[in-house]
Amino acid sequence: MKVIPNIDAKRVPSHVAIIMDGNGRWASLMGKPRIFGHKNGVQAVRESLEASVEAGVKCLTLYAFSTENWNRPAGEVNALMTLLVKTIRSEVDKLDEKGVCLNAIGDISKLPAKTYNALIEAIEKTKNNKKIRLVLALNYSGRWDISQAGGKLSRFISENKIDPNQVDESMFSQFLSTAEFPELELLIRTSGEQRLSNFLLWESAYAEFYFSEKFWPEFRKEDFFDAILDFQKRERRFGKTGEQLKAIGR
Ligand code: FPP
Repeated sequence: MKVIPNIDAKRVPSHVAIIMDGNGRWASLMGKPRIFGHKNGVQAVRESLEASVEAGVKCLTLYAFSTENWNRPAGEVNALMTLLVKTIRSEVDKLDEKGVCLNAIGDISKLPAKTYNALIEAIEKTKNNKKIRLVLALNYSGRWDISQAGGKLSRFISENKIDPNQVDESMFSQFLSTAEFPELELLIRTSGEQRLSNFLLWESAYAEFYFSEKFWPEFRKEDFFDAILDFQKRERRFGKTGEQLKAIGR
């Protein structure tokens, strides 16, 4: 962990998620096709990951392809899938050297075979790394995850492995694809839009939201650090009063 000006190393969010928005609009402003924006978005991914490692974030989740993104023109979907394969293949050794453990959430079985295979190989190669988790949300949506968790839980109940009276939030969350990750604390969205777009619906219950006006391809390390600084200025009350938090030293 590096000393980063003004960032309190003891209060860095352990899990940060990003809705990487604005690639298409950025490319249009440049008079280029949308995929030019996605390609340039890869540098913002690198910088956010480096910034996360430097700040001491333990888990970084990126919304790379939502279940709704299949509705885009086929050419853009194919180009995005090819970009993912190329990026994963070209970056995996560097990720491994830096101690990054790659994970994925979403129904990845529905991805094209080449994307799926590149992803699984990279996950396997980096599985013992401990510095940081990089989670790619691919063919993911929050509602999909909550539904699949409900399905799994129902099967356990019908097989008498779980008593329905014991189902509470903590048990339910064990069936979500994010079960192993730390609690989400900060959610960033770029491009000035202020929506959740079916991203980590359950997990964002107590997360802080940070909206950047920058388009994703322009997002740099300093912007990531600005989001953490902003997070550190907030009082997170979790339903308690400010006075109660002072009394317990939070
Ligand atoms: C949203 O911008 C962006 C995406 C749907 C794709 C994000 C993918 C990358 C940055 C590619 C590389 C990623 C990894 C993890 C290797 P948009 O197209 O919706 O932008 P718009 O709102 O301006 O149209």
